[in-house]
Order: sequence, then structure tokens, then C-alpha cells
Amino acid sequence: MSAESLLAWYDAHGRDLPWRVKGALADPYRVWLSEVMLQQTTVAAVKAYFARFTTLWPTVQALAGAEDGDVMREWAGLGYYARARNLLACARAVVARGGFPSDLEGLRSLPGIGPYTAAAVASIAFGRPEVVVDGNVERVMARVFAIETPLPQAKPELVAAAARLTPPERPGDYAQAVMDLGATVCTPRSPACTICPWVQGCQGREIAATLPRKLAKPP
Ligand code: ADE
Repeated sequence: MSAESLLAWYDAHGRDLPWRVKGALADPYRVWLSEVMLQQTTVAAVKAYFARFTTLWPTVQALAGAEDGDVMREWAGLGYYARARNLLACARAVVARGGFPSDLEGLRSLPGIGPYTAAAVASIAFGRPEVVVDGNVERVMARVFAIETPLPQAKPELVAAAARLTPPERPGDYAQAVMDLGATVCTPRSPACTICPWVQGCQGREIAATLPRKLAKPP
């Protein structure tokens, strides 16, 4: 289980996505915009919206200068309109302060940026070894370390596992590699363990499809 073996897999098999630059830091504006869009929306659905937004508003300065109504209209269909309002407020705050902050604390202080988005931007756009944990990462960590504690109690254990694996080199590629592994190989129902770069040493392989465990919802 090493970051290196996963990065080698990512270089060969990671998805090519419009906001992604494999092997280099990506534009903070494009990373932030894509991550906000990807909250509660699938990669497949986000692609067209991302293309439209970056054509209309190629930079954070352009977006900050947009009319509210134009942005809301382009957002239609993505849902959760609070995200669009925060998007504009964040773009304007970023321009007012002269650019995106590169650290977690600065990012967290911006409208609509929570712990996940702050860590994603800091690592993918600024190369900081922050711990990026979304649902895909939780599932992969629960499996490779056979963490049987149910969610949500398992969160601290899963974050600690993710932190141990996050490398100082290429942390943004690594974060996106775990997300891609979770989305394309270590999938919720029938994980493709035979093609997984982490199958050797995966402690949860035999019970992978049952992990992560979740506390039964009350009726
Ligand atoms: N889901 C959310 N952000 C992602 C990213 N940067 N790469 C892959 N899947 C994601």
C-alpha cells in the first residue's frame, strides 16, 4: 500500500478530466470551480457546466465581474442554488484579496469553502500535502485497512488512515488518484479487486463489498 504504486496507476489509468492537469499543479480557479460543482453532482453532469462556465468566465476576475442573474441562469440544473450564490461571493472575495489563498485557513475563510474543498484546492492547486477525504476516499480507506467501525463514528479513523498515506510529493495527484480509484475500481457494490493497484496488502479484500459499514438508519 504505497502512494507511489497508486500514482503509477493514476499516471496510466486516472481519468482525463477538463479541470485536471496530471503531473502538475492546476489553476486554482478551475480546481475550485470544479470542486464546488462536484459537491452533490456527478462528474458526468459537471463536465458540460464546467466547460460553459470557463468559456463565459475564464478567470476568477471574469466571474467576479459577472451579473448575478447570468451566473444563476448558467447554474440552472446543477441544483442547490446556495452554491451558486456562494460561488459569486467567493469569486468577489478572492479578487478583493488579490487571489486565492494557498493555505487551509485562508481557503476556509471564503464563502462556500468547507474542509473538503479547502483541502482539495490546497493540495491540487498549491501542492500542499493536505488530507483530502470525500466519500470515495472513505470507502477506499475502510477497505484497505479493514476498518469495520460503522460510519459516521469511523470518520476520525478514516481521516487518520488517509493522513498516513498522503505523500509530501504530488499530494494533489495522489488525492485525485484515490478519488478515481474509488470511482472506477474500488466501487461501492462490486469492486474490481483483480485490477486494483492496491490489492496486495488490502486488508479488507475478502469483505470489501461490505465496507464501509454504516450505522443502520432508524426506521
Ligand atoms: N470528485 C470530486 N473532485 C474530484 C476530483 N478532483 N477528481 C476526481 N473525482 C472527484
